[in-house]
Amino acid sequence: VTPPTSADWNPEAYCRFRGLRLRPALDLLAQVGKLVEGPVIDLGCGAGAVGAALAQRWPGRVLEGVDTSEAMLAEARAGGHYRVLHRADIAHWVPDVAPALIFSNAALQWLGDHDHLLRRLAAMLAPGGVLAVQMPRQYGMPSHRFLRDIAASMFPDRFDFAAWEAPVRPAAGYVDLLTPLGAVEGWETEYVQRLPAPPDGGHPVRRFTESTAMRPYLDHLDGPEAAAFVAAYDQALQAAYPVLADGAELMPFRRVFFVLQV
Ligand SMILES: C[S@@+](CC[C@H](N)C(=O)[O-])C[C@H]1O[C@@H](n2cnc3c(N)ncnc32)[C@H](O)[C@@H]1O
Repeated sequence: VTPPTSADWNPEAYCRFRGLRLRPALDLLAQVGKLVEGPVIDLGCGAGAVGAALAQRWPGRVLEGVDTSEAMLAEARAGGHYRVLHRADIAHWVPDVAPALIFSNAALQWLGDHDHLLRRLAAMLAPGGVLAVQMPRQYGMPSHRFLRDIAASMFPDRFDFAAWEAPVRPAAGYVDLLTPLGAVEGWETEYVQRLPAPPDGGHPVRRFTESTAMRPYLDHLDGPEAAAFVAAYDQALQAAYPVLADGAELMPFRRVFFVLQV
């Protein structure tokens, strides 16, 4: 499975769960202390959901966003919180000025080789600067495991997970990796997300994953294949997440956090 292409992000679908997706960003932000001089970077800023909170926390600071998706960047631009928005791949982006803070909410799970990536990002920081990261770690949960299992069983010619490894490791792995670089704290939180019954149908968990984790799968399927895949996924989810009386679902969702000060 290849990573999603930036053009495929749909800000409207992604922002449907704005509150649930913003909460971990605010929990991460709450753990960032006083900053040294320098810009604040929202790495993988997407539609700019966190822009207002970052701008409010550090008024007058240069706030810059980095993302590959033009659709998401257009939304971020409309929000008006960023001084500069860079259309760039995080794997290659280099800051003009050493940042006081690189803040990344729910983006770095799309990139591989975290050892290299995180050391590279830490080395960009101003002395005393902070790298603050949140990533989903949902790979073993039904919502994400079923995507792999169903894709591999329905379309073995296109999906092979034999050598697959989860891109995000437990929080302890990041503390271990980053401890030589500075003061680091890591933790994990399992949010119990209440997902209401979607007015336009479909399993509530699928409606949550379809704008993120499910996208790379659909990229490899034509219309009828995608419909069959979605139907099988909805059916499997039904057994794993029984629907509550009002049609809502409780979806446990695990996220990894770490804050490094160099
Ligand atoms: C789940 S969204 C999170 C957006 C935002 N940080 C938030 O909290 O709402 C992930 C974002 O990461 C971006 N992204 C994924 N891979 C990227 C890469 N290699 N370089 C830059 N941006 C990337 C996507 O375009 C998308 O906007």
